[in-house]
Amino acid sequence: MPSLKKIAVLTSGGDAPGMNAAVRAVTRGGLARGWEVFAVRNGFAGLLGNTLEPLAARDVGGIIQMGGTVLGSARCPEFAEPSGRAEALATLGKRGIDALVVIGGNGSQSGSASLAREDFAVVGVPSTIDNDLYGNDVSIGCDTAINITLEAIDRLRTTASSHQRAFAVETMGRNCGYIALMSGIAGGAEVIALPESELNPAELAARLRAAYQRGKTHALAVIAEGAKCGVKELMDYYGQHRHDIGFDLRVTRLGHVVRGGIPSAADRVLATRLGAAAIDTLASGKQGVLVGIVKGDIVTTPLSQVAGKMRPADASLLELARTMAR
Ligand code: F6P
Repeated sequence: MPSLKKIAVLTSGGDAPGMNAAVRAVTRGGLARGWEVFAVRNGFAGLLGNTLEPLAARDVGGIIQMGGTVLGSARCPEFAEPSGRAEALATLGKRGIDALVVIGGNGSQSGSASLAREDFAVVGVPSTIDNDLYGNDVSIGCDTAINITLEAIDRLRTTASSHQRAFAVETMGRNCGYIALMSGIAGGAEVIALPESELNPAELAARLRAAYQRGKTHALAVIAEGAKCGVKELMDYYGQHRHDIGFDLRVTRLGHVVRGGIPSAADRVLATRLGAAAIDTLASGKQGVLVGIVKGDIVTTPLSQVAGKMRPADASLLELARTMAR
């Protein structure tokens, strides 16, 4: 690859706490190498709309502690079409951009892969609260999302114990139950339901009831948004069997609360490492890859292998959670 002069950075897909720390790392890492760095507004949509502006070191000051993304993000269906991608490539060409860093999750990195297929130099940085990207152990944002969910679980346990009520907490995770699994284990949940696991409402309710029978004063279920046994299925079942179940059930859906707020220290450090690694990767002449951390080390994986693949949550940990909930 000829030596780089101008790079651009964008954040795409669902925002994740720590994205700003990654933008800061990419910007300052790029500037340190003598490159010009441009911000693309609102993800791939900004490439279609040609909303690029130069970034200086001071422009990314005071953002490391901010949630969301100062660059803006969007899901951009037009970019999935060949005409949308052609428009994006035309913008990059017009603005003289040599390489692009894409900070985002699964859908976004499929977008990166499609630019790489067109021979444009692109490096992906894994950022999604769902933590479902292939080629990376922990994505930017998921530590914060787990901790927000955990705080809700801890708070709900207070009322659950005081009123002998069961609670079902729904957290985000459409295709991957990582947040529910980790927050459920950390919060001592009696039951955890994931997209990766088979559980039906009768079984879930029976496990909550069994917790009371074992002398517990509370029973908590943590349910991923995309679980096969979701809160809707549970509430329908509860509505039909309220009298036999023998306890009161309340549901709390956390929704986008899980994605908001200030990033944890772990997410800021991870984002700084991955953002800097994206720059080092480009400087070394590599492109068309996702930078990730696997077993503590920075690794790169071809975007062609990342696109369309998913890293599921480790459902074998459900057994551990069950033992601990005795
Ligand atoms: O991909 C991250 C995620 O937060 C999922 O857990 C969730 O299902 C989805 O995004 C929600 O997307 P949106 O913000 O577009 O409604």
